[in-house]
Amino acid sequence: MSNSTTISSETILSLQNAVIYQDTNLVLRNVDLQIRQGEFVYLIGKTGSGKSSLLKTLYAALPLKEGSGKVVGFDLHQLNRRNIPLLRRRLGIVFQDFNLLNDRSVYQNLNFTLKATGWTNKQLIEQRITETLHSVGLADKGQKMPHQLSGGEQQRVVIARALLNTPQLIVADEPTGNLDPETSDEILLLMRHLAKLNNTAVLFATHDYRILENFPARIIRCIDGRVVDDQAMEII
Ligand SMILES: Nc1ncnc2c1ncn2[C@@H]1O[C@H](COP(=O)(O)OP(=O)(O)O)[C@@H](O)[C@H]1O
Ligand SMILES: [Mg+2]
Repeated sequence: MSNSTTISSETILSLQNAVIYQDTNLVLRNVDLQIRQGEFVYLIGKTGSGKSSLLKTLYAALPLKEGSGKVVGFDLHQLNRRNIPLLRRRLGIVFQDFNLLNDRSVYQNLNFTLKATGWTNKQLIEQRITETLHSVGLADKGQKMPHQLSGGEQQRVVIARALLNTPQLIVADEPTGNLDPETSDEILLLMRHLAKLNNTAVLFATHDYRILENFPARIIRCIDGRVVDDQAMEII
């Protein structure tokens, strides 16, 4: 099962000469970034360096005002009310805060997302929830309420929710930020495992250098208002 010949695989994220703003404040300039199908990439940088702003641009929470950008087949300049939900359906988004609906069970949380994204067939919904919970190691937790789960388990539910619609790219904004080191490793390894299994790309923002050292992968850095791609530097 050699999956290492990704040289010719499809680019699923491409930014060219992009400029990232928060309101009128320039956060990042000259952003050139390409990520291919199935690639796992860290996005690092100090607090305030622009990681979240960059990720928000990818899922259309911030508009791309300058430069060009294409994410999972969508041109960031062609987004509108109608196709933004379609873009987000092809992305899996994972935040630091778990953002689960606390008044319903794990199963109901996933059910809510599937219904909100157009699923109607009860049997298919049930099947998808069961297999997704299984894939994150929570097969027996469907009936639990979020508060009955540990932080790591809650983040697994969030990952399951992000995977429901088989995204091509997972955008994870400091997903281990609220977890202890051991649980952080577990979540990181789970995401890397699932990404490999499904050939899903992951852009994983973190300022936890311990994770980078323990589990090396390609690194993109936000520094001094720019994005530096370590891989590109190696090629130069
Ligand atoms: N909603 C906002 N409105 C205005 N400025 C913001 C907003 N969010 C973040 N910023 C500013 O944008 C810059 C980058 O922040 P952010 O993208 O959140 O960095 P990081 O995720 O790396 O900590 C910071 O200077 C921050 O103060
Ligand atoms: Mg941030």
